[in-house]
Amino acid sequence: MMISRLIRPLAAAAWCLTPCLAAEPMRPAFHYTSPVNWLNDPNGLVWHDGEYHLFFQYNPHGDIWGHMSWGHAISRDLLNWEHMPVAIPEKDGIMAFSGCAVVDVANTSGFGKDDVAPLVAIYTGHREGIQDQRLAYSTDKGRTWTMYEGNPVLDIGIADFRDPKVFWHEPTKRWVMAVALSLERKIAFYSSQNLKDWKPLSHFGPVGSVKGIWECPDLFEVPVEGTDRKRWMLTVNLGDAAPAGGSGAQYFTGTFDGQTFTADPLPPTPAAEPISSGKVIADFERSGYKGWEIEGEAFGTRPSRGTEDGQNPVGGYLGSGLVNSYGKGDAPTGRMTSPEFTLSGGFLNFLVGGGASPERLAVNLLVDGKVVHTATGRKSEELRWVAWPVAEFKGRTARIQLVDEESGEWGHLLFDHAVLSDKPARTPIENANWVDYGPDFYAAVTYSNAPLVDGRPTWLAWMSNWKYAVATPTSPWRSAMTLPRTISLRMEGGRARLIQHPIDQLEKLRREPIRMSRLSIQEANKRLEDVRGTRFDMRLRIDPGGAEEVGIKLRVGGGQETLVGWSRASGEVFVDRTKSGNVDFHPDFSGKHGGAVTLQDGMVELRIITDDCSVEVFADGGAVCITDLIFPSASADGIEFYAKSGKPQIVAAEIYPLHPPEK
Ligand code: FRU
Repeated sequence: MMISRLIRPLAAAAWCLTPCLAAEPMRPAFHYTSPVNWLNDPNGLVWHDGEYHLFFQYNPHGDIWGHMSWGHAISRDLLNWEHMPVAIPEKDGIMAFSGCAVVDVANTSGFGKDDVAPLVAIYTGHREGIQDQRLAYSTDKGRTWTMYEGNPVLDIGIADFRDPKVFWHEPTKRWVMAVALSLERKIAFYSSQNLKDWKPLSHFGPVGSVKGIWECPDLFEVPVEGTDRKRWMLTVNLGDAAPAGGSGAQYFTGTFDGQTFTADPLPPTPAAEPISSGKVIADFERSGYKGWEIEGEAFGTRPSRGTEDGQNPVGGYLGSGLVNSYGKGDAPTGRMTSPEFTLSGGFLNFLVGGGASPERLAVNLLVDGKVVHTATGRKSEELRWVAWPVAEFKGRTARIQLVDEESGEWGHLLFDHAVLSDKPARTPIENANWVDYGPDFYAAVTYSNAPLVDGRPTWLAWMSNWKYAVATPTSPWRSAMTLPRTISLRMEGGRARLIQHPIDQLEKLRREPIRMSRLSIQEANKRLEDVRGTRFDMRLRIDPGGAEEVGIKLRVGGGQETLVGWSRASGEVFVDRTKSGNVDFHPDFSGKHGGAVTLQDGMVELRIITDDCSVEVFADGGAVCITDLIFPSASADGIEFYAKSGKPQIVAAEIYPLHPPEK
């Protein structure tokens, strides 16, 4: 497991087929990037003497993962960053993996001198087969660092034991460390009086999402909105299987008594939707395609029994048969069209998988020979439910058409179990509390010792995903941090939900806004005709007015667009980056990512922040966040509202162009 973790970046590098040429136009204006080279997790986030320190996983020798060291930057406002030299280097073949930093106010470690409280970094030392916890310290405000000669300070002799986060626990007057036992899906807690000698306290897990390895924990107190209470929160990052695919983060709320973290119950597992109870149109359980018209070679002459020769494992279909156009590999093309059937019920539900290409790999619903709905796969061999609202076509005859015109990589479609039903079918994700529903928010940790905004901690994350991080098309730098966010909890039906907002300082970058109220989509778009830009902070309040889908297109131009919208069928706010620009540098990049929201007074409310290569969405009052990287052409800089059906109204919009921080 550890080995696969380490070769992951190198393997993924093979996907960088298009030369990763100079893409400085992608460099964000107000998200932290290093001048050159590779960066991943934020490390050692600590505030000291008016300065925010940002250390980070850094490769001083190249733009893919390797030679992990702690890079360093300093800021007074979390937006303007001064680049500093490497703080903790790889040394004697031991890499400096992720960790934290604290201000040792009482000099418990003895590293302080002349009454100067030391900054102490606690990080993981990594070499083949062993990960242990180590210290480095600074007595000159983080400018220079000394590795402790007594390292390691915590070694239990195992290979996957990493990412310590340490805080001072005032009630028990000692330091507490949360650290990941990655392969066991556990967080271990330790205590210490001096940061050098550590005693085991307890373990937490496995619980919640456990498909991916566990990394980068954090444990801290968070204020509950509208009360003067706080609750403990444990965050755990997952190497895989997060809702948007690949790496992501889950959180647990609960109590911590200085010894043990006890989690509140997880949200109830979503009940399986009665998808099979409707009228089945096609289930592909028989030996032939019975009544379907077949053209070309792609779909063969009969249903597939699952995974075909040379294909990665296919999953998520019902029964034992499905349509799988990989029978003879990706190359063949073709179509198949169902017999006519009469539309009834509210939704046509079906399972779809395979490649993602709205034009060339499609499931279409034809009514009177016209395409009224279309869907594609998501570059995954796992089939997922799609639900099309069909009430408006009730009683009309329709046909389902499957199209495979794609011969290249991922040139195949998977399809199964089309059923007319009163309810939309959903593919349940693992039962956990998710920090962000986008793919690009990983390894977030909170600032230590920092001034709290209304009691709210601040954190930031690495804005990428282990699935494709080493292939992202930027140069000579690779990877950015997310915007810093403040954190609180909101009680909903007895459950504490994580609420995140971008830091207030962002407002300093705002220019004169475009304001709108009570406009139709057409009227609003007239106002946006001459608006161009890549960096915006916008607040939108939209009345869907019966629309099936409504939202805003960002980075529009030359056939490119990034959609931020709300879908009635799924009840989700989403970011769709399938046409966002350069999506081909890795097969797992293209996609649509969303989280279910509750509308307030029937209104879709969105805060959206865009920088040159990112979109960050805050919906449902900050309870549903979606972070997505995008790589559009610099000339794709238009914005426009859009809707599918209905008569939506832009009830209120404030669209602020953002200006880079003053240097
Ligand atoms: C998370 C992580 C950490 C590790 C670091 C190595 O992204 O895998 O667990 O400390 O990256 O760079």
